[in-house]
Amino acid sequence: MRKICFIIIMAFMMQSTQAQRKVVIIPEPVQMNLKNGSFSLSNATHIIASKGTEHEAAMLNIYLKELYGFTLPVKKAGKGHGILLALLKKSDKPESYHLDVTKNQVSIKAVTTQGIFEGIQTFLQLIPPKKIEGTTFHISMPQLSIYDYPAFKYRGMHLDVCRHFFDVAFVKKYIDYIAMQKFNTFHWHLTDDQGWRIEIKKYPKLTEVGGWRNGTIIGHYPGTGNDGIHYGGFYTQEQIKEVVKYAADRHITIIPEIEMPGHASAAIAAYPELSSFPNMNTQIAKGTKWAGDSTGKQVQQAWGVFPDIFVPSDNTFTFLENVLDEVMALFPSKFIHIGGDEAPKDYWKKCASCQVLIKENGLKNEEGLQSYFIHRIEKYLNSKGRNIIGWDEILEGGLAPNATVMSWRGEEGGIAAANQHHNVIMTPGQYVYLDHSQTKHEDSVTIGGYTPLITVYNYKPVPKELDTALAKYILGAQGNLWTEYMAYPSKVEYMVLPRMSALSEVLWTPENKKNWNRFKEELPELYERYQLWGANYFKNSLNEAANQASK
Ligand code: ACM
Repeated sequence: MRKICFIIIMAFMMQSTQAQRKVVIIPEPVQMNLKNGSFSLSNATHIIASKGTEHEAAMLNIYLKELYGFTLPVKKAGKGHGILLALLKKSDKPESYHLDVTKNQVSIKAVTTQGIFEGIQTFLQLIPPKKIEGTTFHISMPQLSIYDYPAFKYRGMHLDVCRHFFDVAFVKKYIDYIAMQKFNTFHWHLTDDQGWRIEIKKYPKLTEVGGWRNGTIIGHYPGTGNDGIHYGGFYTQEQIKEVVKYAADRHITIIPEIEMPGHASAAIAAYPELSSFPNMNTQIAKGTKWAGDSTGKQVQQAWGVFPDIFVPSDNTFTFLENVLDEVMALFPSKFIHIGGDEAPKDYWKKCASCQVLIKENGLKNEEGLQSYFIHRIEKYLNSKGRNIIGWDEILEGGLAPNATVMSWRGEEGGIAAANQHHNVIMTPGQYVYLDHSQTKHEDSVTIGGYTPLITVYNYKPVPKELDTALAKYILGAQGNLWTEYMAYPSKVEYMVLPRMSALSEVLWTPENKKNWNRFKEELPELYERYQLWGANYFKNSLNEAANQASK
């Protein structure tokens, strides 16, 4: 009898621990009240899509299928057991949502469809991270009540597809990682010295010539040789449209980046007249090995900063305006990123037409000429109803009037821009450059640096030096992923996960709810989610975190 009692008690305890499975939602919501009791999600549960939420209901089914292997029937209205999606009339924070789980119903309510979508992302994390076997199932989830909204309105992740090219299938996967962690912006770095990746119908050589290089350096810069492999790729305009739609379906805005005036070697290889010195051979980076023809203008095969930048001529401006016209037709984003970083002025110093332009426009020097360049492009984009974002070098020589600054060389550029009442997106290298090593014991090649998980987690996008009245100019922050040392999707995943999840809390979770110890304890559950996504990830963050804590 005692034995039977023991078995019954054990069975009860096991059941109740199952019911009390810890709720792990990342990013951590603003308010979450756990209640007694559970909701049973089964194959008979309907999604009840009230007016205006039909698309979100379809998205919920897409994620359920992708992650868990099942879909649920959708009905338009009705009470009773189900997952209710409903738009609220009352004005609220635009991305906020209410998620309530009661005995009979899950309800996700928001003022906007984007809010409903964010609520769906939270709901998906209430389902244990395991594929469902078979067609009949019951999944128990705790009753609770969540009210949630983001701390920052710009929550970005970036991907460089120039140093290494990533196909549409992976870009879509990356967009899902972004969406599932409640980011809302994907910054797509499409042009650089090592490859031009977007089809421009008016200038086919940009991708025919500029989309390919004859080799890539081997190992860490300057490398131990050159692989001599013809490497490249690009997205057709049809593919771009497909990706833009895929992102929009997930409430992700894509900001395309077309680099100027620097990082232009691939464009110049295609159209040498865009250079100050069209007849000069492309400069090969010191100490690096080159593969194939090295005469004339070439797509770069090594990493770094190169002197051959766009010449500020009428021909170049016409070219860039035509390129941007096609870009704007593809990307509905209000913002277009025009680069502006790392543009050495050596060629402009030697170029007669550049010096004439400086004189004619009463500019101080070549930095003034860069400012003139950016102003001119900004004016063009503004005339089409778009705004520019540029890296913090666009501050040099004077900011264009409506520009948003992406602060990457630390926080100083962002502070300076906010002090001038310009909007700012924070991407300081020491906190959110996810190409940096995340462990001191890295055994793959990375660009270097050391930005462990805790450093990302503890980042605060509003610098303490900034006057509180100016904090409103800090729109948010972004994780950047430069892919010199990431040739495959699995390496990209390894570099961004879990640091991207840490950044999701930086951008979404209010300061008073952020908690490194809680986040750290949630990592094993997060890893299970990554496995469910089919994603690779850095598996040793806990040890790295322990090493950090012991210092
Ligand atoms: C940059 O990392 N060059 C913006």
